Amino acid sequence: YTTPKTIVVIFGATGDLANRKLFPSIYNLYEKGELKDEFAVVGVARRPLTLDVFRQNVKDSIEENIPVPQKVDEFSSHFYYHSSNVNDRTSYKELKDLLDELDSKYQTEGNRIFYLAMAPEFFGTIAENLKGEGLTSTSGYSRLVIEKPFGHNLPSAQQLNEQIRQAFSEDQIYRIDHYLGKEMVQNIEVIRFANAIFEPLWNNRYISNIQITSSEVLGVEDRGGYYENSGALRDMVQNHILQMVALLAMEPPIKLTTEEIRSEKIKVLRALRPIDESEVHDYFVRGQYGDGQINNKQVPSYRKEQNVDPKSNTETFVAGKLLIDNFRWAGVPFYIRTGKRMKAKSTKIIVQFKDIPMNLYMKKDNQLQNPNLLVIHIQPDEGITLHLNAKRVGQNTQTTPVHLDYCNNCIDGINTPAAYEKLIYDCMKGDATNFTHWDEVALSWSFVDPISHVWESQAATNFPNYSAGSMGPADSEKLLENDGFQWWSVSELENK
Ligand code: BG6
Repeated sequence: YTTPKTIVVIFGATGDLANRKLFPSIYNLYEKGELKDEFAVVGVARRPLTLDVFRQNVKDSIEENIPVPQKVDEFSSHFYYHSSNVNDRTSYKELKDLLDELDSKYQTEGNRIFYLAMAPEFFGTIAENLKGEGLTSTSGYSRLVIEKPFGHNLPSAQQLNEQIRQAFSEDQIYRIDHYLGKEMVQNIEVIRFANAIFEPLWNNRYISNIQITSSEVLGVEDRGGYYENSGALRDMVQNHILQMVALLAMEPPIKLTTEEIRSEKIKVLRALRPIDESEVHDYFVRGQYGDGQINNKQVPSYRKEQNVDPKSNTETFVAGKLLIDNFRWAGVPFYIRTGKRMKAKSTKIIVQFKDIPMNLYMKKDNQLQNPNLLVIHIQPDEGITLHLNAKRVGQNTQTTPVHLDYCNNCIDGINTPAAYEKLIYDCMKGDATNFTHWDEVALSWSFVDPISHVWESQAATNFPNYSAGSMGPADSEKLLENDGFQWWSVSELENK
């Protein structure tokens, strides 16, 4: 495979995402030799910066994010800067001239990636202007990479999509969901489809429920303005969590192509049982953090955060029960929960298997059987743990829980590539498998829209209802208890 040749144009090049994730990711590709010298990066932003200052920013970002970078000067010499107001058509002409010049300088064969790392209200205008001024008509490819949020609900997402589609076709659009770039999220498919022992059990005959927890310790930080209009449901569930559900529940694709995998994921999202507005309370729980202790330090409640309404009705926690109405999953609840200011930063998937038909051991030690669990550790630790029962050492035949552990990021020297690095590289190669198709976006919004509609129209009377540093409100526990289940706390089970 030949290394990609391309110009990457980053809109929002002075922003946080560019500096924290994009520059270091492209740098890693360069240092590893996955990107050779046929590339250039053009930063676009409103701020007037000289080329020297911009390149210095790039170097600073690399030095802050990469332990011992070896090629910073060479790398930053590939960077260019174009100051512009994205609404100003004439500035696209200048940008076009710059791209044409760089095309011949770096032999990038007319290949262009336009990466929109800025507020979504500009996505449509930028796409339109790129096409209108001819920046997309070259002899090579043009691809558009878009960050979330992709709309605020289904109608706004549709509107945005129509606007973008005027300028780019679906196969040129790469909608980022950075969870799809995580090593262990990509591993879900391999664990399921490359092991003879899981797939036969991966259905409602053997699985009792699946739990996905994505908890964060950080609060809303300086993103109050954005988050007030979003909340945990739109911020995490509509995208990252539903994507994980789709990967866990999909049928085996007939081939590992983008189209086949997408079509299986889409079927899962179509099979999600819609939640009627009258039933939202039965299936979903919302929470908002109050003050509390994180690492022995007192932290303020959400309502006291910067740019947050002191009477805010925005949820910072969601727990939900999802049902998938198809042959494989009928009757198996998928429980999900996510929130800010929780006890730990951790994303885990727990597959709980049904109990064996008869328990021979319960009578002896009068102890409940430990269910078999398959834990997929997404982050910060990456790995798989299988919880089994074995014989306790000694005279009696008593059971004891044992854990088979595979750790993906414990082996010295293995540095799991960051999500953005993989996704940018995929886009350069033209592999859209780990990006979200429009149909997935639309189906995910259709699922969450009734929930957010109810929550927005009915103020929560009990907010704040969980303390910072906890695992969320009590109602989240009840959601599972009502079905005879409980949230497994893996750290307690595995003593991690
Ligand atoms: C982003 C959300 O998409 O994902 C953030 O907007 C959230 O609010 C983040 O903090 C979580 O990502 P990660 O990779 O840290 O789990």
